[in-house]
Amino acid sequence: MKKVENAVVIENKKIASNIYDMFLKLDDIAKESVCGQFIEMYVDNGVNILPRPISICEINANEGIIRIMFQVVGSGTTYFSNLKRGDIIRVLGPCGNGFNIKETDLSIIVGGGIGIPPLFETAKRIKGKKVVVLGFKNRNSVILKDEFEKLGAEVLVSSDDGSIGFKGNVVELIKEKGIAEKNSIIYSCGPIPMLKALSEFADETNIECMVSLEERMACGVGACVGCAVKVFDKDKKEEIYKKVCTDGPVFSSKEVIFDA
Ligand SMILES: Cc1cc2nc3c(=O)[nH]c(=O)nc-3n(C[C@H](O)[C@H](O)[C@H](O)COP(=O)(O)OP(=O)(O)OC[C@H]3O[C@@H](n4cnc5c(N)ncnc54)[C@H](O)[C@@H]3O)c2cc1C
Ligand code: FES
Repeated sequence: MKKVENAVVIENKKIASNIYDMFLKLDDIAKESVCGQFIEMYVDNGVNILPRPISICEINANEGIIRIMFQVVGSGTTYFSNLKRGDIIRVLGPCGNGFNIKETDLSIIVGGGIGIPPLFETAKRIKGKKVVVLGFKNRNSVILKDEFEKLGAEVLVSSDDGSIGFKGNVVELIKEKGIAEKNSIIYSCGPIPMLKALSEFADETNIECMVSLEERMACGVGACVGCAVKVFDKDKKEEIYKKVCTDGPVFSSKEVIFDA
């Protein structure tokens, strides 16, 4: 069950351009989390009231440790970047639904930029053949590549400027390499244009695709509708709104209406 805990910062270090890798000691939340879920981190700076959603990158339930990775974009993430070993931060979690891992011939794990972290614990839990496709702005923004490789997965990289790997986006790379097989399943997280293109690719090739949306949030607990996304309800055969914070962040690509 979701709860608020005082987390102790174990480590917080800068690992790429504006990106931090943080380990938090969080007993109950760590034990109850699954891959693809997120935590809400409070910003106790006397200014920001709302917590900030950050995906769970890695879970060590035995030691009660959760790893997160975040990009500094505003006051909340700046506050997190300044936290030091031993500092305390209030955290609500685990939040959202996470990825539903299934057995299949080939799992294709596709991440873009700061959407990559929740896919790391996901990749650890996926058994069998897996290909990881990571998209970055440039070589200075590369995260987790080596760690995915250590999991034994084939790792392919693209970058917008071609400074590392394939020049282009992850969907172009998947098409170029002809990776997808008939019974593949895609697990993905990243910017909306990437997820939209991936969803179209999944439709064209008739492959199952799960997308994790990082919509802007306010309350984070289902009360304000600030994170609503339009989806197609196949039972009711109509468009409805779902909340990313409680119904997601992971959805089937078939239900999300990306043009809304
Ligand atoms: C389910 C979920 C999981 C997330 N996981 C991660 C993660 O693992 N690592 C990470 O770095 N970030 C993640 N985010 C995004 C993160 O929550 C925001 O970057 C953060 O809340 C910004 O807080 P801030 O106070 O620093 O910036 P603010 O001052 O609130 O905003 C600064 C700028 O960032 C924009 N912004 C704020 N939130 C978002 C968002 N969700 N998407 C796009 N732009 C936004 C604002 O419009 C503004 O331009 C996730 C978001 C969601 C909803
Ligand atoms: S953020 Fe308030 S309902 Fe989702």
